[in-house]
Amino acid sequence: MNKKSIEDIDFKNKRVLMRVDFNVPLDKELNITDDNRIRAALESIIYILEQGAKLILMSHLGRPKGERREELSLNPVAVRLSELLAKPVKMLDDCIGEKTNNAVSKLSAGEIVLLENLRFHKEEEKNDPEFAKRLASLGDIFVNDAFGTAHRAHASTQGVTKYLESVSGFLVQKEIEYFQKVLTKPEKPFIFILGGAKVADKIPVIENMLDKADCILIGGAMAYTFIKVKGVSVGSSRLEEKSFEIVSKILAKAKNTGIQIILPIDHVVTDNIETASSVKITDSEVIPENWIGVDIGPKTRELFADKIKEAKTVVWNGPVGIFENDKFSQGSKAIAQAIAESEAISVIGGGDTAAAVAKFSLAGKMSHISTGGGAALEYLEGKTLPGVAALTNK
Ligand code: 3PG
Repeated sequence: MNKKSIEDIDFKNKRVLMRVDFNVPLDKELNITDDNRIRAALESIIYILEQGAKLILMSHLGRPKGERREELSLNPVAVRLSELLAKPVKMLDDCIGEKTNNAVSKLSAGEIVLLENLRFHKEEEKNDPEFAKRLASLGDIFVNDAFGTAHRAHASTQGVTKYLESVSGFLVQKEIEYFQKVLTKPEKPFIFILGGAKVADKIPVIENMLDKADCILIGGAMAYTFIKVKGVSVGSSRLEEKSFEIVSKILAKAKNTGIQIILPIDHVVTDNIETASSVKITDSEVIPENWIGVDIGPKTRELFADKIKEAKTVVWNGPVGIFENDKFSQGSKAIAQAIAESEAISVIGGGDTAAAVAKFSLAGKMSHISTGGGAALEYLEGKTLPGVAALTNK
């Protein structure tokens, strides 16, 4: 990466303003149900503290849209981070204002504070320059380690870089390295696995992958639109009619360029997604009337696993079934297992795909699991991430 990194800086006695992505899932009692994003930032946090810096962490949580909402306070995150670091993490009441300035000015070397949810101020998402300036005034240097939010041009990811020297943290560096490796010089064969519900959301990534991958395996609800466009009936499965035209163009392009797009050849289907009272396997790609496709079937699992076995590079974005329900999780599990057994370099898109891999306890077997959902998808689409682009050049 042609950007300055955390290793280019002497942090001693500096006030370090660091953007992290602590947008973690919470249950109703405000317990953190997955702390991976907090753990992923630890390497940079520990490195900076060990150098004798004063560390000011900032993040968003959820989408409070400029309003203070107590259930979206970062308080539970401060508690968890403090446990993981085995040292106090002071939680501040706000991310700007006099009290915040005072607390930051009292910090000693090696101490750490966490600012309250940035999105309690609407100026954050508007990338308001005055708000960005106020945030920037808290630090002498800015570190961005929030890969998960790097696709947002917000005050805390892009605005602050106008006022401070800005460098990447270890997590951002690692994420970019993996994505660059698979996108610019993938070892072949390169298999791209795509799932998820909405076709429209995934069109740009398929288009980008048609120039890069040797084979694209498509599962999840989006597969039913592809199958339908090929003239096969898919019962009452989810369909996206507005995407029919672009899907048929994609299928034609793949045919002309020799890229394989492989669709499910059998399915797990149900009469009702919520109750799942009847569940069966189809004999072929055809889904009978009134039945809804919810996962890839056993023949498809085998077909996909065989493809993964041949691969030297695998990128997976989007579960291939409604994996949250155990009855519909076998397809995603089979893919995760096939990747775990393969020697290919494997990059797993964040969000739901990361959650699926974690559910099957196979996270440790992947080369890299991204902490970014939307950010990983945009990077795979070939877009520039504003939070990374704004960092100081080397
Ligand atoms: C994410 O969870 O993908 C990031 O934290 C970004 O959150 P956002 O989609 O609300 O901007």
